[in-house]
Amino acid sequence: MDQMRNLIGLGDISLQWWEALYSRCCDIIAKPDDYIDSCKGKILASMFFEPSTRTSFSFQAAAQRLGGSAFGFADPLGTSVSKGETLADTVRIVSSYADTVVIRSPMEGASAAAVLYSDVPVINAGDGGHFHPTQTLADLTTIAQKRGRIGDLCIGLCGDLKYGRTVHSIVEALSIFPNVRFCLISPNELRMPEYVLDKMRMRGQEFTETALFAESLPELDILYMTRIQRERFEDVSEYLRLKGVYVLTNKDMQHAKHDMLVMHPLPRHGEIDPEVDSDPRAIYFEQARYGMYIRMALLLDFFHLPKLTPNPIVAFGDTQKCQNPACITQTESYLVQTTPVGAAGKCRYCDKDFV
Ligand code: NCD
Repeated sequence: MDQMRNLIGLGDISLQWWEALYSRCCDIIAKPDDYIDSCKGKILASMFFEPSTRTSFSFQAAAQRLGGSAFGFADPLGTSVSKGETLADTVRIVSSYADTVVIRSPMEGASAAAVLYSDVPVINAGDGGHFHPTQTLADLTTIAQKRGRIGDLCIGLCGDLKYGRTVHSIVEALSIFPNVRFCLISPNELRMPEYVLDKMRMRGQEFTETALFAESLPELDILYMTRIQRERFEDVSEYLRLKGVYVLTNKDMQHAKHDMLVMHPLPRHGEIDPEVDSDPRAIYFEQARYGMYIRMALLLDFFHLPKLTPNPIVAFGDTQKCQNPACITQTESYLVQTTPVGAAGKCRYCDKDFV
């Protein structure tokens, strides 16, 4: 496997990296008992500043199934963060007790910031509406298991493409596979953000955008549904207006391909009627289980990496300030950029262009 030290986004992964990870994952699925002592004594720290069921528990289960253990918090109110401790100090301390740190935050770029203060590998378990790379690894595993290979497919990403971090990550990752077309289905207000579309154009990824769900369904090989992300809306009335915009029912499924896969990172909030659950094409619960196995494959690698002294960034002269209100630099004001004031570029934490 190419050496990767932190998993923050999937923009730089290679096919070789994925294939090595996936083949390890398949071996774990086939022979889980071979791995029960493979990470004996290793410790995972999980820092969850936002609610989680699947990601948090599957990481803990993954560490334990490898013979390691896990500690952490699911609510920062029980930690010194509630006394005003910075992210940097919290990460310095937590990473000194563990062999890998998993972090989820409502702020975009939080895990990229954490890397600067951690002496062990950092995994992004979701940073605001930005990225969620390990959900994508679960998604890729599911596609590979169900279709035999990844490629030659039309995937419909449907719902909240603006704030949904899972769809931003899956788009990045699918760029390494051949002949993948995207059908981006969302209301106009929740379109895929320009910074994601720009990268898709740069990489030559083929996509169409539409608000029409029923019309798009028959051509899809995979339908990837997402929840409207209530917690990221500035205006609740806007959320109330848009929630329920797409609801997949058995009636819709009659118009889909006989082998179309229905995926969802979960939790769902009305966008897939429970009547669809018994359709064999609905694979979202299996998808969550594959997430545990691919996280085992990832931890197996990360747990054994050497500790490295962290290297915080020091700014020389005045540097740009990120204007994104959801960027981690808004709340952790000591975080600096490397781009000088006035120069063009992107925030090194949240990816947004400087304006
Ligand atoms: C997603 C997340 O947290 O981004 N869930 C997950 O991790 N499986 C999706 C969501 O919250 O809608």
